[in-house]
Amino acid sequence: MSHEPGSIDAVQELLAGEAYVCGRPLATLVFLALRLGRPLFLEGEAGTGKTEIAKALAAALGRKLIRLQCYEGLDAASAVYEWNFAEQMIAIRTAEAAGGADRTALKAELFTEEYLIARPLLQAMRPQPGGAPVLLIDEIDRTDAPFEAFLLEALSDFAVTIPELGTIAAPERPIVILTSNRTREVHDALKRRCLYHWVEYPDFEREMEVLAARVPEASDRLSREVVAFVQRLRTEDLFKRPGVAETIDWAKCLLALDMMELSPQVIADTLGALLKYQDDIAALQGSEAARILDEARGALAAG
Ligand SMILES: Nc1ncnc2c1ncn2[C@@H]1O[C@H](COP(=O)(O)OP(=O)(O)OP(=O)(O)O)[C@@H](O)[C@H]1O
Ligand SMILES: [Mg+2]
Repeated sequence: MSHEPGSIDAVQELLAGEAYVCGRPLATLVFLALRLGRPLFLEGEAGTGKTEIAKALAAALGRKLIRLQCYEGLDAASAVYEWNFAEQMIAIRTAEAAGGADRTALKAELFTEEYLIARPLLQAMRPQPGGAPVLLIDEIDRTDAPFEAFLLEALSDFAVTIPELGTIAAPERPIVILTSNRTREVHDALKRRCLYHWVEYPDFEREMEVLAARVPEASDRLSREVVAFVQRLRTEDLFKRPGVAETIDWAKCLLALDMMELSPQVIADTLGALLKYQDDIAALQGSEAARILDEARGALAAG
């Protein structure tokens, strides 16, 4: 297990070791989140490394990653714990078959750890090898307000009460990272508990660094063309702009096709790695891809 990083530089190095490129502002917030024990709230465009940083941080610190994937209708039971009804039923039937089930004894036995299914929040409150786990609460904007309120409470106490068992408190605060794609605004009360960072698309230099870390087999020339094209493409009026994830995918596709450089034809053939909406793909038909490529090359030549 590594120790908590002692500086912002150390955070950047630690994450770089997991092939995660972290700019100084984000590294500063990660450093502070670790130092102050505050949750980190990351909001931003899709595919810009919000989820990945939790994975990279857990791996770098040698901590367990516990992920709570949010979705519409997620409730406390699925987030914290559930009783294993099926197993409880079997235990009841078995006791009945053996005759003379003592109701009180049976009830006490049915509501023990053995029949408890720990969901992510409860798992995060339990001691983990290597120290407090990284708790990733992913895409919180997909849940509803009641769940958010519930989460607010769980995050302030870091304890979970199970009526039949009592209160389970985390021995050490988990490292909490929340992400949102901002399909709706998350409530101020929850944000106020957290350190906040808006994750932007990376600039040219940083996206080159990401490609170097994630697709090292791509030549510098191909990477520069790919990044310049994607950067230029993001300024177009698109329904869904490509994220860093798409840049990486696209570079891998081009490599798989043995492409050394871009051409309008190659772009048209592989656009599905970059754009995922038919309207956006259609908008790049004809001379559009060639125009954007020209502009991207112009920007490269201008340095
Ligand atoms: N800064 C970065 N350094 C290294 N890889 C990155 C970085 N940002 C993004 N990536 C790559 O992009 C992929 C997608 O990132 P991730 O899943 O974290 O995006 P996200 O912001 O959570 O997107 P979504 O909102 O769609 O969930 C990652 O698997 C990783 O390979
Ligand atoms: Mg994500």
